[in-house]
Amino acid sequence: MDATPVTVTITGAGGQIGYALLFRIAAGDMLGPDQPVRLRLLEIPQGVRAAEGAALELQDCAFALLQDVEVTDDPAVAFAGANRVLLVGSRPRAAGMERADLLAANAGIFAPQGAAIAQHAAADVRVLTVGNPANTNAMVAAAAAAGVPAERFSALTRLDHDRAVGQLSAALQVTPTTLQAVIIWGNHSSTQFPDVSHATVAGRPVFDALAEQLGGTDAAASWLDDVFIPRVARRGAEIIEVRGSSSVASAANAAISHVRDEALGTHSGWTSAALVSRGEYGVPEGLVCSFPVTSDGSGYRVVEGLELDDRARARLAASVAELAAERDAVRELGAI
Ligand code: NAD
Ligand code: LMR
Repeated sequence: MDATPVTVTITGAGGQIGYALLFRIAAGDMLGPDQPVRLRLLEIPQGVRAAEGAALELQDCAFALLQDVEVTDDPAVAFAGANRVLLVGSRPRAAGMERADLLAANAGIFAPQGAAIAQHAAADVRVLTVGNPANTNAMVAAAAAAGVPAERFSALTRLDHDRAVGQLSAALQVTPTTLQAVIIWGNHSSTQFPDVSHATVAGRPVFDALAEQLGGTDAAASWLDDVFIPRVARRGAEIIEVRGSSSVASAANAAISHVRDEALGTHSGWTSAALVSRGEYGVPEGLVCSFPVTSDGSGYRVVEGLELDDRARARLAASVAELAAERDAVRELGAI
């Protein structure tokens, strides 16, 4: 194998999502079966032993694509020469913590990491933020990464997208691959807007298929408003309630799909990703908002020109208002 290895840095690599990510990346699920990888695992000192344990297990898998693994608590070492960065490690919300405290704690992680990426990563670096609050953490990292183009930063809403596809495929009793053009708009939070108004199933509008399945257009509209949208938007909380901790394998799977489609292309379909807004669909510039996106392998671009009716515009505006409030809070902290 003579391809140049890609250096992939994962922060929070000793945590749960890290453990679910590392082995799949090393097996070629993220960058393809012919692409060798070097892994750089960044942890805080308390997490280094867990990451070192994962590194031992990676060696024991004898993956053909895995060239080397380095574990460190030094961002300068972790980001040196990185082509792909997955920012997973973040500060979880503790009991009694206000949202502003959570934003402050995470701005204190993501601003220095953004600056370290700008200083040490490869010229072609691309950065996916997974750690919550993912959209605003990505905005903070992008703002601190002087000289790295904003379009190289994204945040994960692919999990929400895949959750939406999962709910629709169960309701319509179809395989997920028959569904196209589902969209997640907004924030990776309960204000997000899972939108099926452009979606098709086997080439037919999803709404028509739902009406047939559920016994009419009124039933389809109520299912979308009362079941589908809240279920997808609150799925993260449902998983926490049922499992006792937040989603892990599905989140890692979504992160791998996000990077794979960004790097290898979405081909004829769309997916959803949170990108730094350039004003598309009236979303204020600089907010990291989920949009419908495509990639030809050179990075995600927003699918523009879609019609949104008044109800859809109101739902998007509500999620954008939350993103703007988060931006204002981190701005007050001086983090952007
Ligand atoms: P976890 O607590 O198991 O792991 C987090 C790891 O990050 C820990 O090992 C911790 O030591 C490390 N860490 C903390 N601060 C760090 C820093 N400054 N530098 C490097 N490492 C650091 O949590 P997890 O289950 O792996 O989840 C990670 C994050 O992903 C959480 O914020 C979670 O809410 C988020 N998440 C996002 C989505 C999404 O769709 N965007 C889905 C699920 C979970
Ligand atoms: C999820 O969507 O599963 C997570 O973002 C939930 C959380 O708060 O960690």
